[in-house]
Amino acid sequence: MTYLLQKPPKLSESEVTNSVQEYYGLEGTLHALPGDRDQNFLLESPGGQKHVVKVSSLDEAHEILEFETEMITRLSNNTNGLIPSVIPAISGTRLVTHENQQGHHYRLRILEFLPGTLLAEINPRSDALLMNLGERMAELGSVLGAYPDHPPPRINFEWALGQAGNIMEKSLSVLGSPQRALIELTLKDFLDNERDFLGLGSQIIHGDVNDHNVLVSLDKEGQPRISGIIDLGDAHSAPRVFDLAIAIAYGIIGTADPLLAASEITRGYYAVQPLLDIEIDVLMTLVCARLGQSVCIASLRRNHGDTDPYHLISEAGAWKTLLLLAEIPRQVSTGTLRQACGLEACSKSVQLRKWLDSQSFEDVLTLPEDPNALGILDLSISSPDLTGRDSDDTEDFTNRVSQKMRSNGLTLGIGRFMEPRGFYIADAFEGRLGDPRERRTIHLGIDLFQEPGTAIHAPLAGRVHTVRENQNRLDYGPTVILEHSAPSGLFWTLYGHLERASVENLKAGDSIDAGQLIARIGTYPENGDWPPHLHFQIITDLMGFEGNFPGVALPRDSNVWTSFCPDPNLILNLPSETTYMEPKGLFERRRQVLSPNLSLSYETPIHIVRGKGSYLFDVLGRSYLDCVNNVAHVGHEHPHVVGAGQKQMGVLNTNSRYLHSAIIEYAERLSKLFPEPLSVCLFVNSGSEANELALRIARTYTSGTGIAVLEGGYHGNTPGLIDVSHYKFTGSGGHPPPPWTRTALVPDEFRGRYRRDDPSRATLYAADVGEAFRQLDSEGHHPAAFLSESLLSCAGQIEPPQGYLTAAYEHARAAGALCIADEIQVGFGRLGSHMWGFETQGVVPDIVTLGKPMGNGHPIGAVVTTPEIAETFDNGMEFFSSFGGNPVSAVIALAVLDILEDEKLQANAATVGTALKTGLNTLMRSHSCIGDVRGRGLFLGVEFVESGATLEPAPAITQYVVEHLKKRGVLLSFDGPDHNVIKIKPPMSFSESDAERLISELDQVLAHDFVQGISLIQPQD
Ligand SMILES: Cc1ncc(COP(=O)(O)O)c(C=O)c1O
Repeated sequence: MTYLLQKPPKLSESEVTNSVQEYYGLEGTLHALPGDRDQNFLLESPGGQKHVVKVSSLDEAHEILEFETEMITRLSNNTNGLIPSVIPAISGTRLVTHENQQGHHYRLRILEFLPGTLLAEINPRSDALLMNLGERMAELGSVLGAYPDHPPPRINFEWALGQAGNIMEKSLSVLGSPQRALIELTLKDFLDNERDFLGLGSQIIHGDVNDHNVLVSLDKEGQPRISGIIDLGDAHSAPRVFDLAIAIAYGIIGTADPLLAASEITRGYYAVQPLLDIEIDVLMTLVCARLGQSVCIASLRRNHGDTDPYHLISEAGAWKTLLLLAEIPRQVSTGTLRQACGLEACSKSVQLRKWLDSQSFEDVLTLPEDPNALGILDLSISSPDLTGRDSDDTEDFTNRVSQKMRSNGLTLGIGRFMEPRGFYIADAFEGRLGDPRERRTIHLGIDLFQEPGTAIHAPLAGRVHTVRENQNRLDYGPTVILEHSAPSGLFWTLYGHLERASVENLKAGDSIDAGQLIARIGTYPENGDWPPHLHFQIITDLMGFEGNFPGVALPRDSNVWTSFCPDPNLILNLPSETTYMEPKGLFERRRQVLSPNLSLSYETPIHIVRGKGSYLFDVLGRSYLDCVNNVAHVGHEHPHVVGAGQKQMGVLNTNSRYLHSAIIEYAERLSKLFPEPLSVCLFVNSGSEANELALRIARTYTSGTGIAVLEGGYHGNTPGLIDVSHYKFTGSGGHPPPPWTRTALVPDEFRGRYRRDDPSRATLYAADVGEAFRQLDSEGHHPAAFLSESLLSCAGQIEPPQGYLTAAYEHARAAGALCIADEIQVGFGRLGSHMWGFETQGVVPDIVTLGKPMGNGHPIGAVVTTPEIAETFDNGMEFFSSFGGNPVSAVIALAVLDILEDEKLQANAATVGTALKTGLNTLMRSHSCIGDVRGRGLFLGVEFVESGATLEPAPAITQYVVEHLKKRGVLLSFDGPDHNVIKIKPPMSFSESDAERLISELDQVLAHDFVQGISLIQPQD
């Protein structure tokens, strides 16, 4: 009998109840628990006491069960409650044999019930919890290691990790082709290393620390901790590292980065019980073997007709994890584990570095005589010499590099080691499978920029390992790898981006003298399509790569890779600082010199240095999907905007008191976007300035002072605007508004006074505007303006009910006030359906204020009004804004309009916004914490509630979701009076696939225990 075919026994519940009473004197209700081979129950006594009843398979050998029972009994005393004890029966035995009416024998045991949640159900598994799993595994390993006896051998024990090879081999015939290839690889790795791990010596191991056998509870500090390890039914003799590998295999399934999760578990283990180098070396092979074994057993079982979900439980996650791990060179994954243990990732590196440091080498390129002719080219993510789109146009990129070198007086430009590169944020350098957060941005070599044709010499003697043409665009082009020997063993040097003709006569095996000419610098496109340069890299382990080797690494893996690829300057000996240093200490410096009431987003702030389209990049090139920055309206650093600003900056930038066509052309084009009679423009530099100016115009026109605004509204940062921003004057640090400000109800049809079920809500809300003006008037503040956003942003992404603005404007105008539409957030096509927010309500304001998106980040704002109002405003007191509408601002704003038109971004906002809203509505149906989804186009809001019935706001969930989305590379923020509304207002370049990603990431975070309201128990002791 094999376990593949073995099913748990099926003793009736009544018979189990009777047996439990007969043998143990225990009474209670049974609840079935899952089990792979045993039939398990939770027994709950009327007094609330809990036990676990295990009915063992008829096929289980009696001596094994006896051994196991004895072992658990003894171990439970030594593991500080980690392993549950066995409860003795009335007769004193811990293993009861029960014969049923058909004469079949069953073995019954009752175990102490350990409270806790299965690790399998914990979402997400934090690094601290994974590390704790490692610690507990080490403790368990040492207790098991001290156990004096070995269990009787088992026959055909498919779940023994030592059997993984047999199982994988057996399953090949039932697997489809991609899966089969993966298992063949895993099997080969297992067989290649079998001798190593079988030579490790054995002890008793648990044998099946899978995530359904591990319990988690809160510790005294309220932190999740591993509180129990159950089911020793697979205990057998094997190397101790098998148990760690099994715990890792299941512990990492479903985590954001399985390799990093594995390193946390290993870190915990090593901290308690150091591992031997050889144990760490085989760990990843064993982890993959266990994952392979698990998916193969599932496939074999399915092939036998087994559909029991518990039997197939880890399958999909295990396949995915296995695939992910298979993509990472084994040396790198093992190096990651070594580093987690505080060891050098590549064991040879320390010795090699020391040796290289003690040697002298021939120059690879002839160095310029003038030391000033040699210098660093900044190619980092934030380099102003890069565009982030550099590899799209090699000629332009090359010209820029040459120009930079010329202007700096360089004949030899150096591209640094470990530099996060601004041009590796392209798709060609994608990172871990399905993880868009990091590209391989960290440079592992040193680049030497010189003229094509420059001679390259071998720095030391060796032999040609490979000469290869790596043809893919943005690869190395012609590449030579030389092999050298050192006291630490062989190592290699790589020369990339060569001239094809220069290496035609070179072949593998040729011996090379120190200083020998080996190649010349190539030109593009034959060099892989890069500005001409040599990429030089030292390699300590070829990791199975032939003729090529990664020259860049993910930020998260960079320390591991640079252990395998030591600093090339150990050989090049360039008299410069050739290693990139990440700027540190910004947080402290900022705190010293910037006002503390300028807040920073996120618990751990991010250091953003580059933007491109809908993405932002931090200093290491990690990418963030920007779902909230409506200022970068047409996409971050749009080349047309950048080019327009750069060009004009070099020609003229002065104030608007001279004739200049740009400001006029812009005013003409802008006013054409408005309905009549809105046709006169005044330019300023911010939204605040625009609103200040609008209020000044309204007060001049009406001779009044009274302003009516809406609850939750924000209109700017000046004292005058704080006085009319309910969001601010009622917020923390606020003060009562002046008597000339009146606040009307926010037209929030979700949680406001009048809701969606009230057909009169639009007119009722609008009536409150009328009421505000009546009060102002009665107190002697003649109405001047009704200032409101057309859709409200800070108030919580609120779209007023249809008809609201029509009625509110009627009330305002009847009171003698002007209607000011603050379109600073929602204007310029963001809403998809219309260019301006007020158009969605069919009204025409008297004054419109513009800002944020107008200059795509360049500070320009505007007031647009009617000729009649503008005329009245011209009362002798001149309006002048030093920077408003200057030529640079005007050409930038013109470029924004061009792009809006050319790239049809309003239509994009409509399509993508609709898809996004549909996706959010679908999420709302499956996640009760989403109370409302609202807005239009790319101006959407998601409101979080504790309960759909009470609408109690859920700010903690909102904040959690925003923080965790940031960890997943998605930027959002929240707002609203209850801090429970996520604002979605991305650059208008946001694509359908960006929307899909946002929905999918949000869906995953909404499944987290915290959002689901799942809290762990704290065991009493
Ligand atoms: C609706 C609204 N009006 C006015 C402003 C003020 O604009 P600025 O920050 O450019 O002064 C803001 C800024 O957030 C805003 O959201």
